[in-house]
Amino acid sequence: MIPIASPDIGQEEIGAVVEVLKSGRVVQGKKVAEFEEKFSSYIGTSHGVACSSGTSALQFGLESIGIKKDDEVITTPFTFIATSNSILFNRAKPVFADIGEKTFNIDPVNIESKITEKTKAVVIVHLYGQPCNMKEIKKICSDHDVMLIEDAAQAHGAEYDGKKAGTFGDISTFSFYASKNMVTGEGGMMLTDNDAVAEKFRVSINQGQLGSYDHVMVGYNNRMTDIQAAIGVEQLKKLGKMNTRRSKNSKFLTEELENISWLETPYVDGNVKHAWHQYTVKVNGTFRDDFVGYLNSNGVGARVYYPKLSYVQPAYQDLGYKEGVCPIAESVAKQVLSLPVHQNVSRSDLEKIVEVIKKYR
Ligand SMILES: Cc1ncc(COP(=O)(O)O)c(C=O)c1O
Repeated sequence: MIPIASPDIGQEEIGAVVEVLKSGRVVQGKKVAEFEEKFSSYIGTSHGVACSSGTSALQFGLESIGIKKDDEVITTPFTFIATSNSILFNRAKPVFADIGEKTFNIDPVNIESKITEKTKAVVIVHLYGQPCNMKEIKKICSDHDVMLIEDAAQAHGAEYDGKKAGTFGDISTFSFYASKNMVTGEGGMMLTDNDAVAEKFRVSINQGQLGSYDHVMVGYNNRMTDIQAAIGVEQLKKLGKMNTRRSKNSKFLTEELENISWLETPYVDGNVKHAWHQYTVKVNGTFRDDFVGYLNSNGVGARVYYPKLSYVQPAYQDLGYKEGVCPIAESVAKQVLSLPVHQNVSRSDLEKIVEVIKKYR
């Protein structure tokens, strides 16, 4: 099976981890500091605080910018559940805005239509590695004086108008989960230019501790370890190369698949550099699940991200959202599927993917 995700772990990562293990300092220390410094400089923010996951980066990031009970936070329902869970973890209310039909990213016009007196922030997701329309979203947030959070879990190295995803919001969050463009196993980071937010976040994920045993708030343990950070430092060195490979793979797939009448290849906005976290196509018809089953049984590890919108999940039923809130997202969720595009997909894998698809109908 050609897997949908496959981390590129080589001798560099293995050597770096062994070094940490031999040092005897396996919790948070020098390596985490090095990773924070290198990743935040690469993205282009003054602070980066590493943590245990992309989910905790979002959860404590929202807490650190002051999101609290009963605030409204606008977000997309077409994402991994962690995006809206982080709003609920802070006892705020997620308000769902619809997505664009072509990019699958949150639609700026729909964001603006959902803003009320209670809106405190907008959490956008650069889905599949394609940055959202930052020009319009930034303007809306500034016109209405609401904060902007970029969930960049899928967008390491992506750019909008020549600027990296992760530099547009009041804060941005990244995940280094095993399936992402760069990995630390589990892991995440919150980035910001705001000194106070960075400090609050650092304290919050470290038991609320300002100095040794000086607990100034109720905090948690969501720290990253030096073992994870050592992998992250090595992965960052390879990120450009891995993303170039993803981009070449996606170009090949689009060239080979764009003339299939029942399939829509990914749309790429003119002013973005796509990170190709996923290569996501749309089928025109009601046979998506059958097609995914066919691909899987023919050795192509296709997957659906995401088959159910956040607000239709059982865990969200108390919020009272009914089908029809975001009609475009509802129909897109029934049509999309992602094909393997990562750096370990070889030319012969790509040829096989195309051949299998062309035989389907
Ligand atoms: C868009 C998005 N947000 C948040 C997360 C959560 O990241 P993590 O799995 O590191 O907690 C993920 C990935 O898993 C994601 O894809």
